[in-house]
Amino acid sequence: MKTILITGSSSGIGKAAVKHFAEQDWNVIATMRSPEKETELTQFDNVLVTKLDVEQQDTIHQAIVKGIERFGKIDALLNNAGYGAMGIFEAASEEQIQRQFDVNVFGLMRVIKAILPHFRANKNGLIINLSSMGGRLTFPTMSLYHATKFAVEGFTESLSFELASQNIRLKLIEPGVVKTDFFGRSIDILSDDSLTDYQGYSDKVSAALSNTINSEKESSPELVAEIIYQAATDGTNQLRYIAGEDAKELIKLRKDLGEEAFVEHMTHMFS
Ligand SMILES: NC(=O)c1ccc[n+]([C@@H]2O[C@H](COP(=O)([O-])OP(=O)(O)OC[C@H]3O[C@@H](n4cnc5c(N)ncnc54)[C@H](OP(=O)(O)O)[C@@H]3O)[C@@H](O)[C@H]2O)c1
Repeated sequence: MKTILITGSSSGIGKAAVKHFAEQDWNVIATMRSPEKETELTQFDNVLVTKLDVEQQDTIHQAIVKGIERFGKIDALLNNAGYGAMGIFEAASEEQIQRQFDVNVFGLMRVIKAILPHFRANKNGLIINLSSMGGRLTFPTMSLYHATKFAVEGFTESLSFELASQNIRLKLIEPGVVKTDFFGRSIDILSDDSLTDYQGYSDKVSAALSNTINSEKESSPELVAEIIYQAATDGTNQLRYIAGEDAKELIKLRKDLGEEAFVEHMTHMFS
């Protein structure tokens, strides 16, 4: 039986992935910031629910140690924990900027660095990083979030070269909009009432974004979990997996139009 460690398992894509892997007879180390609140995943015999906050190094090491104690070894890691800072960049505080990178980028790097000695000792390992279509293209008023997902893309692609030498593979999952609580509980709104110059622009972008986010094309977290499972088990060296019709369409449009024309297209959409 294989074992996967998943971060951010308390809700959304992370929780759906825990259930999907557990149902396919994998052992799962379902990690989250507040494991004491979890009541559903604790019902599975092959799931260990334990604490991991990607901003706290000691919790990362403890989760890995506990997972190995319980299941013998870890075969795969899913870096799913993340959230979005959204709003005008100038409104962001230093703390908001730092935290966005600390969770989405440095947190993911911390977990990878902590698990690599185990994967090298096993001469085998798989690392799956949750990126986004927002790691391949951008929308206005989400500059910090996009910056983190572009960083995850570049980091993962480059790291895949050196880790191939250790028989450790990397994968990127790029979902479009997914029906989770991401746009509720996982949004950090950047706002500053004194920045009135942006008001007209912000209102226009909010209206255009609501029109652009087409609920018919949103994916379920279960669909994303299936694609993550496919990435974990297809035995290929494929690096990128796009999840969702909206993501497929927009990434294709950027490729077909070329980068300059695509940016111009987005400018028109939001002006
Ligand atoms: N939903 C979308 O439209 C969408 C699209 C593309 C990519 N994604 C990516 O998918 C991933 C999961 O998001 P989701 O949509 O499933 O949203 P979600 O339901 O809000 O889940 C986010 C998860 O991240 C966890 N988290 C936040 N900060 C953390 C930290 N410091 N340490 C550990 N865990 C932390 C949250 O834990 P708590 O319960 O403790 O807050 C929660 O479990 C994110 O990386 C996101 O960027 C989402």
